[in-house]
Parts: sequence; C-alpha cells; structure tokens
Amino acid sequence: MEHSMLLLLSRSHRMVYDISVAAVTASILSNSRLFRSRSARRLLALRRGHSLPLPGLWIMYAVDSVCPSLFPNAPHVAIPYKARGKYRRKSGALSCSTSIMRNGCLRDYGFRNISKRFLSSKCKCQRAESTSGDANNTWFTEPVSKADHILGELNGQKVVNFENGSVIMPNDVSVNQSSDKTRGNSFEDEAWRLLQESVVYYCGTPVGTIAAKDPSDSGSSVLNYDQVFIRDFIPSGMAFLLMGEYEIVRNFILHTLQLQSWEKTMDCHSPGQGLMPASFKVRTVPLDGDDSATEEVLDPDFGEAAIGRVAPVDSGLWWIILLRAYGKCSGDLSVQERIDVQTGIKMILKLCLADGFDMFPTLLVTDGSCMIDRRMGIHGHPLEIQALFYSALVCAREMLAPEDGSADLIRALNNRLIALSFHIREYYWVDKRKLNEIYRYKTEEYSYDAVNKFNIYPDQISPWLVEWIPEKGGYFIGNLQPAHMDFRFFSLGNLWSIVSSLATTHQSLAILDLIEAKWSDLVADMPFKICYPALEGQEWQIITGSDPKNTPWSYHNGGSWPTLLWQLTVACIKMNRPEIAAAAIEVAEKRIAADRWPEYYDAKRARFIGKQARLYQTWSIAGFLVAKLLLKNPDAARNIWNDEDAEIVNALNIIVDSNPRKRGRKVFKKTYII
Ligand code: GLC
Repeated sequence: MEHSMLLLLSRSHRMVYDISVAAVTASILSNSRLFRSRSARRLLALRRGHSLPLPGLWIMYAVDSVCPSLFPNAPHVAIPYKARGKYRRKSGALSCSTSIMRNGCLRDYGFRNISKRFLSSKCKCQRAESTSGDANNTWFTEPVSKADHILGELNGQKVVNFENGSVIMPNDVSVNQSSDKTRGNSFEDEAWRLLQESVVYYCGTPVGTIAAKDPSDSGSSVLNYDQVFIRDFIPSGMAFLLMGEYEIVRNFILHTLQLQSWEKTMDCHSPGQGLMPASFKVRTVPLDGDDSATEEVLDPDFGEAAIGRVAPVDSGLWWIILLRAYGKCSGDLSVQERIDVQTGIKMILKLCLADGFDMFPTLLVTDGSCMIDRRMGIHGHPLEIQALFYSALVCAREMLAPEDGSADLIRALNNRLIALSFHIREYYWVDKRKLNEIYRYKTEEYSYDAVNKFNIYPDQISPWLVEWIPEKGGYFIGNLQPAHMDFRFFSLGNLWSIVSSLATTHQSLAILDLIEAKWSDLVADMPFKICYPALEGQEWQIITGSDPKNTPWSYHNGGSWPTLLWQLTVACIKMNRPEIAAAAIEVAEKRIAADRWPEYYDAKRARFIGKQARLYQTWSIAGFLVAKLLLKNPDAARNIWNDEDAEIVNALNIIVDSNPRKRGRKVFKKTYII
C-alpha cells in the first residue's frame, strides 16, 4: 500500500515535471515570454541538474512562469539565479549552513534558518554570516584608526645595499634608519590609504579589493581591472590580517566560496565543480520585475570571459592558503570549521587530486593558469602551480576536520604530498653541479633504472644558463616535461617553494643565495623580475604567439612586478635572511610611490614603468605594505609560511635511502600512507 502510494506520488511528480518541461521547451521554440521568465529558466536549470523538487513547487513554477504576480512571496528552490540566467548552483553541492546567492544577494541557507528562507522571497543583502553578531557597517572607520596606530609605530629596518651582487652592510645603520623612518612611514601611510580606497563593497559589506584604481584609466581600457581578482586579493588580505582587520578577509572567503559551485560554462562545456573564479565584479542591475529598483549581484568570471579563456587553477589554491592564514592570524577557527567551508576545501582538493593520465605527481595545467595568465610556454607542470598546490595541500591537511567520510581524501592528499615534494626536489632542482650532470646525460635510456628519466637532451642547456648559473646557489626550473626542461627562473614558484617548505632547507637557502648573486638581473631598479630571462626573437614568436604585450623584458616576459615583494619577504624571514628583503624594499621605495604604484616595470633592469602597466595597482600597493609590516614584525610571517613536516621528511628519507637513481622502480613500488 505504502509502496503504491509512493509510486503514485512519484508518477504524478514525474508527470507534472514532464508537463512543465514540455511547456518550457515549447516556449523556447516559440521564443515566448515564458522562456524569458525567471521560473522557466530555473526549471531548465533543474532539468539539467536532474534535481526534482516537490510536485507542488513544480506546479507553482509553471503558474509562476505564466503569471509571476500570483506568487509574490513564493519559496524558491536553492538554485541561484543570476541576472543573465547563466549560473546555477549544482544541486549536489548544497549542504546545511551554506549561503545561497539568489537574485545576486547572499541568503543565509543554514537549516536553522530555513524558516527565514521561506518567509522572505525578497532579496535582502546580508553579511556572509556574522560570527561576532556585529552586523553594522563600522568596519571602515575602525581600521583606519587601528592602522594609523600600527603605522605610527613603524620604524626603519636594517638597511643594506647590494653592489655587483654582493651584500654591503652600511656602517652607520642609524643614519639610514632615521631617514628610512621618515620616508618609509609616509609611503606606508599612503599605501594603507590607497588600499582602503580600493575596497569593494557588496550590499554595504567589504568583500575584496579592486585590481587597479587608476584615475587616468577609463572606458574600454579598464578591461577587467575593475574586478576583484582572487590572486590579487591575497596580498590585500594579508595586509588586512596583519593590521588586525579580519572581517574583509572573512567576507571575501565566504563570498568567493559561494561562487565556487556556480555552474560555469564555455561553449556548452563545464569545468570541474571545485573551480574558483579568477575574479568577480559587483554589478548593480535592475531588480527582477521592478524597473524602478536595483540590486547588487556578484558576477564571477571563471575564465569564460578572460582573455584567452584561461582557467584560474591558482585561485582555489590561494583561497585555501588565505583561509589558513585567516585562522592563524585572527585565532578565529570557526570559519574553517564551517561545513560549507570544509566542503569547499574538499571540492578544490577533489578537483586537484582527481585521477588522470598523468605519470607525474605534479598538477597538469594549461598555459596561463596562474599569475602569468597569458601564453608564455608554461603549460604542463609549471613550478608556480606546483608550489601553490603543495602549499594548499599542507594548509588543507591542517584544517580538514577528521571524519570518516574524508579518510580517503586525506590518504590521497598525504600520498600526493610526499610524491610531489620528492619529484620537485629531485627533478626540478638545478645548481652548477646538477647542470654539469645534465650536460653529460646519456639519452634514450629504456629501462627502469634510467638516470635521465625524462630523456633530456643536453643541448637544451642554453648558452645563457651556462654563464648565468652561479658558483653558490641554485633554483627550481620553471617546468619539466618529457624531453623538456624549461630552465627559466620563475620567481613566484621559487619563493613560494621556500614559504611552503616544498624546498628543503638547503635548497631554500640556495635560492636566496642565487637571488643575492643575481641581484642585478632579478632586482636591479625595481623588485622583482617575474621570470628570467625573457623570450626573444623566434622563441618569443613561437611560444607567446607574437604577443605584443609580452614582448621581451615586458609584462610576463621578463617584466618586474613589485607585488612579489611580499612573497620575497616571507621567504627571507623564514630563512632568517631578512636583510635581503629589506634591501629589495629599499630599492622599491626609491620610486614606487612617485611612479604611482605601477602594476609592472619593463626593460632588463626594470628602468621603465611597464608599457601597458596600470597605475595604482592594488597588489603592488598591498605587496609593498605587507613586506614593510612583516619586516617590522617578523614573527607574524609564521602565520603565512608552512614549517617542514616531519612525516614528509621521514618518508622522503626512506625514498632517498633507497637510492632512486639506481633502484627507481623499487622505490615507486612503495606506498607511503601516513
Ligand atoms: C593580469 C595579471 C594577473 C592579474 C590581473 C589583475 O592579468 O597577469 O596575474 O591577476 O592582471 O591584476
């Protein structure tokens, strides 16, 4: 009896559903008003998602489609609707305590608030969910005074000069300190003021910072620099955390989390569910059904609108890193413990740890999937992504709540961490000794015991590298693929390998040695070269596709990016060599404010403001500020870096003891489960 009732119910459910879908389909064909209606689009979204709500709702949707005014306060299924009807939340991603965007506004969707959801169908802008219960908008005024207080206390750092690649400590440090103090403070004040001016609000709440706020830039030349970029916000977020301003970071984390599970499509194809957007914009649009009112919507770009349609692989990794830093700096672990946040972490991890065809533990990505978001020959396994991947895995492991359902994921994560660190430390590392080894490689070794595993032809060692590799120091190469080593020095990947402890202590120190030795190439007149050397001539033509923005020694192709100062500073403090960062900051201070905080500099020695560089670029401002704040309070950098993990070190020792060069096959037969 019960069974037949259920059957009947499910049949009627199905019938109403089919009728509704048929009506919608018919309306598409006739391009009627019905299709343009909100409910019809929701129905289609549901059809695609195979999620069937109650029959009653279907009836209501069908009627609502024809006559929306009949149900002004109708309950809405948990599918976000966006003004252009392009995104929906995947039904499977819904969980209790998550917040749902509907009509662009954040709605608390926790089960305990379910009645609220049904009571109100009108969009009300809300905070991401206040932990403190303080939902007023006093955020903006308070940090000014707090920050002024902190900035007022800042004094100069140890000043050093680099000449011809060597460090010279000035004898009279006090003289330099006092001048640094006067000058430095005004720069920091300005940086802090500009950072505050770059804050973007959503429904009155600070949610991020705009990429650039150049008053001279207008119209079409703004491109997407008026958006909040996930990667660009990281130094802003770190600056706010260091200043004790936690709310904007918390809001950013929770709002971007909402965007994670929206459906994103490019020409009918949807990338993985855990993908985080590259950027988002707060748009003001007319309110549905009410021409006289407007509402704000968060409009994410997952790469579908980006130049070159590049996937922002780094966004989710940075998001995890910032989340951990938020917990460490604020002491508020309630954000990372939330179920929706835990789900968000797992979705990113699942996407990154999914099985593929790969032979390597490194993450396989397309060109332009990170800070360098144009074609620069970094497809495959670029170092920057690997360092961020490693860092995100370590941070996630720290934050994931132990529960039965995550055991497999945590096991996969641990195995990947070990394999990844072994792979990078062993195969990406070059110094003079290793280069000489590669120079003498035998090729075409078919065997499990091959020394030259990736069949690298020694001719790949370019003449520049033979001259460039210093006696003391080394670095991780940019990319490794079969028969291909990209020997370019990529700064962010190397710096973040130090910060995340992907590099050994010895390697970390050697990278800093190399930076000192190659000061005039990597810092020169403005820190810090994004990669060295530039691609020139035919190489530039073939690899960049003759990209006029990436001409030699410009932009991503050997340009200098002041934002990298903050990563340099964390790395230097971690390795107890802050004087290197102090010297780089000293160089930047000479002109960065006068130059109006450019996005990047051009030419071999970074003498020119970049050809198409935005001015008042927020992450240049924030990167500088974070560097200054950390030098003043080096202990705070602990909240950003990852200490070397003893378990990983043990596992790696076992691998090294097994002598992988001679017994490679046996080594990889082992599985390390921690
Ligand atoms: C450029 C940079 C990218 C940055 C964006 C916004 O596209 O390559 O890394 O996120 O500008 O500043």
